[in-house]
Amino acid sequence: MNVARDRGVTMQGSSNGEIRMMKDIDVLVSEVGPRDGLQNTKALMSTEYKKKWITAAAAAGLREIEVCSFVPPKLIPQMADAADVVAYALTIPGLHVAVLAPNLKGAERAIKAGAHKITLTISVSKSHSLSNVRMTPDEAIAEAKRVCALRDSLPPGKRPTIESGLSTVFGCTLEGAVSEDEVVRMAIASVEAGCDEVGLADTTGYANPEQIRRVFKKVRAAIGDKLGGAHLHNTRGLGLANVVAGLDVGVRTFDSSLGGLGGCPFAPGATGNIVTEDLVFMLESMGLRTGIDLDKLLAVREIVAAGIPGEALYGYVPAAGVTKGFVPASRVIG
Ligand code: COA
Ligand code: ZN
Repeated sequence: MNVARDRGVTMQGSSNGEIRMMKDIDVLVSEVGPRDGLQNTKALMSTEYKKKWITAAAAAGLREIEVCSFVPPKLIPQMADAADVVAYALTIPGLHVAVLAPNLKGAERAIKAGAHKITLTISVSKSHSLSNVRMTPDEAIAEAKRVCALRDSLPPGKRPTIESGLSTVFGCTLEGAVSEDEVVRMAIASVEAGCDEVGLADTTGYANPEQIRRVFKKVRAAIGDKLGGAHLHNTRGLGLANVVAGLDVGVRTFDSSLGGLGGCPFAPGATGNIVTEDLVFMLESMGLRTGIDLDKLLAVREIVAAGIPGEALYGYVPAAGVTKGFVPASRVIG
């Protein structure tokens, strides 16, 4: 029996909260660079380099990696090898293999490939939704319902976790302010459609810490423990402040991208995610265990830099180094 595959199957259907408890960490850092990062780079990364990146990231202690998206290759050629990348990621013991899908066809391909978790990108802003997936928000919810029905038709143990990844939650480059009531309505609709969890994304880097606290609280009041993690972009430099605000209101899963790569090609002006290296440094310094070895993580940058020559990699900790005498929480406690 293939041990990795077997572990993968037992992890299917588990929520991020369960991964955290299972692995005894305080915060789950979910690496989205191979998806959010690469969908926005000019240079194409080869499948070989993607495999090296995922291998090294997992070896550094990352437990969940969003390895690709199942979108039409004509639209995003970088994701043409999605099924191969998932097949490879599934061979890494203990890795929770997450992917993004924009529609039912993408979810069908992701399920066929064996992904553990499928995040559906569902925009709260109508203009972004139409630009990104050519559906209105309500049509995207109807599509989510079809995806959940497909999941339910699978045998128990083979069902991936379906996350509604609500995007442009904190503001939209096309529409400006996004109604918080609408965010709550879409979160409830996602749960009613059958989604296992609802994540909130600041696709455009519009959020401020106060808004993060307020919106996460409102959504939790509406859907309770179906509320998932935060997907933050650092477009205006508020990314880590927003993480702290999220921690304040109980968020325990954060997406981030190695070297701060990332951005939505269909949201004008959107730039990179929060930097995984800086996020891990901050959390570990604060006494929160991520299970990630920062030295090993920093070394992953060399692989990524070699795989997409000419693309800028960001990060403060990579530039400045860790503080003298830095003792990560993961090492202290366990
Ligand atoms: N994967 C592969 N092929 C797909 C697909 C998917 N997920 N969804 C649709 N297609 C194919 C269809 O089979 C059809 O192929 P054909 O021309 O050979 O018949 C073609 O693409 C058009 O299908 P259609 O359903 O009309 O899609 P569309 O052109 O309206 O595009 C989306 C809709 C959702 C597929 C597209 O807008 C998309 O992928 N958006 C996501 C963009 C993204 O990744 N944004 C970043 C994440 S935030
Ligand atoms: Zn993003």
